[in-house]
Amino acid sequence: MKLDWKAIPRPIIALSPMADMTDSSFCRTVRSVSTSSNSPIVFREMVSAEAVVRHNNKTLAMTDIHEDERPIVQQLFGSDPDTMAQAARIIEKEHHPEGFDVNMGCPVYKIVHNFNGAALMREPELATQIIKKMKAAITVPLSIKIRTGWDDPRECFSFAKVIEEAGADMITIHGRTKAQGYSGQSDWNLIGELKRTLSIPVLANGDIHTAPLTRTALDQTKTDGVLIARGALGNPWIFSQITDVLRGQAPQQITLEERIRVVKQHLTFHLEQYGAPGIKTFRKHLSWYFRGVPGARPFKERLHTADAVETVYQILDEILLDGLLHDALSDRDAVNPVATERVFMAK
Ligand SMILES: Cc1cc2nc3c(=O)[nH]c(=O)nc-3n(C[C@H](O)[C@H](O)[C@H](O)COP(=O)(O)O)c2cc1C
Repeated sequence: MKLDWKAIPRPIIALSPMADMTDSSFCRTVRSVSTSSNSPIVFREMVSAEAVVRHNNKTLAMTDIHEDERPIVQQLFGSDPDTMAQAARIIEKEHHPEGFDVNMGCPVYKIVHNFNGAALMREPELATQIIKKMKAAITVPLSIKIRTGWDDPRECFSFAKVIEEAGADMITIHGRTKAQGYSGQSDWNLIGELKRTLSIPVLANGDIHTAPLTRTALDQTKTDGVLIARGALGNPWIFSQITDVLRGQAPQQITLEERIRVVKQHLTFHLEQYGAPGIKTFRKHLSWYFRGVPGARPFKERLHTADAVETVYQILDEILLDGLLHDALSDRDAVNPVATERVFMAK
């Protein structure tokens, strides 16, 4: 598929890049629960351009793409225009992602202290050079992800113009400043205001955690689409739920059976990607999958200490059985309280 930000149907719904989260196995999981009509554009987690150019094996492995994941946008971070261009060229030649994105919004010290991430918002000349050199090096679209500013939320108006004039094909804006980190709220009004000043497509980001909120954010910002990050963790179904809501239907409810099936599927993909050590790195996903799921709490500690795949599977089956039994009890309770009591005693 050729990615053309101007031509793809509106609204554009995309999975936002998340370090350690939107890896190949998670993106495959998102695809596996989506259909062709509700599958999002997927942004893979950021990788260091310097590490790619140094041919760091671990970093290069992070840019590998399973065919089921496409279309994929690979995000890069870095601040040297030549290195950024060279890294993009290496990845395009090797894996052919459908697009590239540059991280100009990450607020964490490890990233910004080297002029990477959100620090580039204070270096418009450098940002321009990065965009121009990358555009000259690749054949696919280049998008940029920014925040509203370093500490002043109106900085994005001049900076986004710089990005547009440098030749970027699309821009995503997270409606918080770097100084805010994750505090406060993403400013959807300001995103809408910024959208009206630009001619390239704009995606809104920040605090769009559910399908109904997606509808509200699209109405409020009038952007070309949205980028969903935390709302997809533990809920890869969010993209089909968004389609339901945009069609005026109630969002699909996820049954416990479906949840357990997909957790197992995701674990399989994760182990394919990372091998045996993946059993430990998968725990962060387990926390998200069972967050707020009624009845899952007593199993969580066991899930987080299990270090054999078979044990994780067994606990997942127990959660399912417990959930089914609980449902059966609630049903009986509704019609026959005496029968319920008997089942409880038998248990
Ligand atoms: C665990 C985690 C990792 C993230 N990693 C990246 C990243 O690699 N690149 C990036 O541009 N943003 C990254 N972000 C920011 C998100 O893409 C997004 O902009 C932010 O979480 C706000 O969107 P949300 O409210 O939908 O979560 C990360 C966020 C989280 C929670």
